[in-house]
Amino acid sequence: MNVIAPKPLAAAPLATALRRNVVRHTDKLFDWDAFPSNRGYPELARAQMRYVGAGGSPKVGEVGTLAPEHFTVSLIHKPVGNYAACHAHEIEESFLIIDGVLTVGWERDGEVVEVRLGPKDMILNARDIGHGFRNDGVEPVLMSISVDVGKPLPPRYLYHPKTGTDPALARAFGAAPGKTLPLDPAGAHPLQQAMGRNVIRHAEAPAIREAAGFTRRVYVGPGGIASDTCRKEMLSIPAGIGVQPYTRAVEDVFMVLEGSLTVGWEEDGQQAEVELGPRDLLLTPAGRPHWFRNDGAGPCTAWSVVGDCEAETVRYARA
Ligand SMILES: [Fe+2]
Repeated sequence: MNVIAPKPLAAAPLATALRRNVVRHTDKLFDWDAFPSNRGYPELARAQMRYVGAGGSPKVGEVGTLAPEHFTVSLIHKPVGNYAACHAHEIEESFLIIDGVLTVGWERDGEVVEVRLGPKDMILNARDIGHGFRNDGVEPVLMSISVDVGKPLPPRYLYHPKTGTDPALARAFGAAPGKTLPLDPAGAHPLQQAMGRNVIRHAEAPAIREAAGFTRRVYVGPGGIASDTCRKEMLSIPAGIGVQPYTRAVEDVFMVLEGSLTVGWEEDGQQAEVELGPRDLLLTPAGRPHWFRNDGAGPCTAWSVVGDCEAETVRYARA
């Protein structure tokens, strides 16, 4: 039997605009050649998936990647045993761990402080601090990297094997034997104290209980790590909870980590919604009324980045 499919209805402009700002994890491929300086060094290999902007990669303008305004968002996959050479740049850069355990090192004058970060932990790499990372664990690390786009200058490599650095020294981020300290925020070393101010452990971050029925933990911004660029928060939204439309003066994104999140936009009395699954992202531009709701049976964990670093001005109202 021949079946003639009905002609699909023309999509409303608002729904089309909303879908254009969604990046589906399964629509994207990881790029193993995002960092040309790593070519020829398999121990440095990592893969990048760009969602917003190009992150620390020189590649820009990729189809299916959203244009950045104040920040970029990407995922990085780091295989077991591999490391990233110690480097510095003039932009802030956050590493939010999604899977696995990542060792991050900060270097100054040949001394290194290392911290191990697990899922939902984050470090904000300060401007001009030498930093590198290494996967000493037994599973690949997946993390979300976000940088501000104020000064997208290329990184300055401090200890890279291509410049003749001894491979063992490069793997230790520039620390000779005996020159590595573990992170101890109460430690006497200034580098320990500096790193201690820039690490957030999810289990230790205070949860703000919103009257609308969900919690948020501020990672970067007032109440979290001080910054002058962007605010970053982890939201935990129980099943069935949603909020009424709200508007920001800057863009924001949601990246779902666990569960699912329905996000809606409003314009001239019209509404459109989309449901995001794990590792899907939506960028909502400045001035757009939007809302979120958990239609799932289980809780949703969502990572949120906001394009300024002011205290929260939104007063969430339960839908
Ligand atoms: Fe970096």
